[in-house]
Amino acid sequence: MIIGGSSGMGLALAASILATGDRATIVGRDAARLDAARKHLEADAPPGNAASLTTAVADIAEESALERLFAGTGPVDHVAVTAVDATGAYQPVSAFDATAARRLIDTKLLGAALVAKHAAPIMPSTGSITFTSGIAAYRPAPGGSMVAAVNGALESLAAALALEMAPLRVNVVSPGWVDTPVWDAIAGEGKTARLDAMAQRLPAGRVGAPQDIAQAFRALMANGFITGTVLHVDGGHRFV
Ligand SMILES: NC(=O)c1ccc[n+]([C@@H]2O[C@H](COP(=O)([O-])OP(=O)(O)OC[C@H]3O[C@@H](n4cnc5c(N)ncnc54)[C@H](OP(=O)(O)O)[C@@H]3O)[C@@H](O)[C@H]2O)c1
Repeated sequence: MIIGGSSGMGLALAASILATGDRATIVGRDAARLDAARKHLEADAPPGNAASLTTAVADIAEESALERLFAGTGPVDHVAVTAVDATGAYQPVSAFDATAARRLIDTKLLGAALVAKHAAPIMPSTGSITFTSGIAAYRPAPGGSMVAAVNGALESLAAALALEMAPLRVNVVSPGWVDTPVWDAIAGEGKTARLDAMAQRLPAGRVGAPQDIAQAFRALMANGFITGTVLHVDGGHRFV
């Protein structure tokens, strides 16, 4: 189950799961976007694997939607959460818009806790939940205080849940800058220039691809001895 699977990292994770013949459900708010993602995934999947994909509409910020989502599905081995609505959340504190900040908190932090609440009853004890934080927690930028805070808090939430929900495993992937559609919204026409400039600063010499993050999710799902961990997939961004 990939909540946020109709775009970016979640979409790449779905493609990776279908490629190995496993089943995936991708979840987002927009049915048309899910449908486009389904067509894209079906076209790329190895013959016979496309039937392993399902889609579901749900808003991670609405508990009733999550309750319906997990009540309406069979057992789920692994849950990955990449959803976030950060619209308007990058703002200096002097111009703080509390509504945008609450939307960020609801979708990325509280939503994660509610996913854990409603997913756990249908998951096997060998299952895992993996959240997505981000480099802003470690390299905060002016105007990004709320994003930094929410990413940091999400990692603390995951550590506590790893104890509380054991033996179910709970982990976090912390991406650096990754070339996904989110950058179209953040940087618009300046996207390529911003990502190129960051690539030159990074030890890895490039920004991330969604597939880099998908691989990290798969590693955390597969390794039964990793729990309460933050896996940094940032090309070395924390050190520059
Ligand atoms: N890209 C980066 O450089 C970067 C860096 C650090 C951290 N991150 C983090 O990595 C995660 C994934 O980012 P991405 O770049 O892959 O984003 P993306 O391409 O914008 O994809 C976000 C996905 O989440 C879904 N979504 C958004 N709000 C939702 C909601 N309220 N309920 C359910 N689904 C929702 C979107 O579909 P709908 O809009 O249709 O719902 C979409 O499928 C995010 O947590 C982001 O903060 C990204």
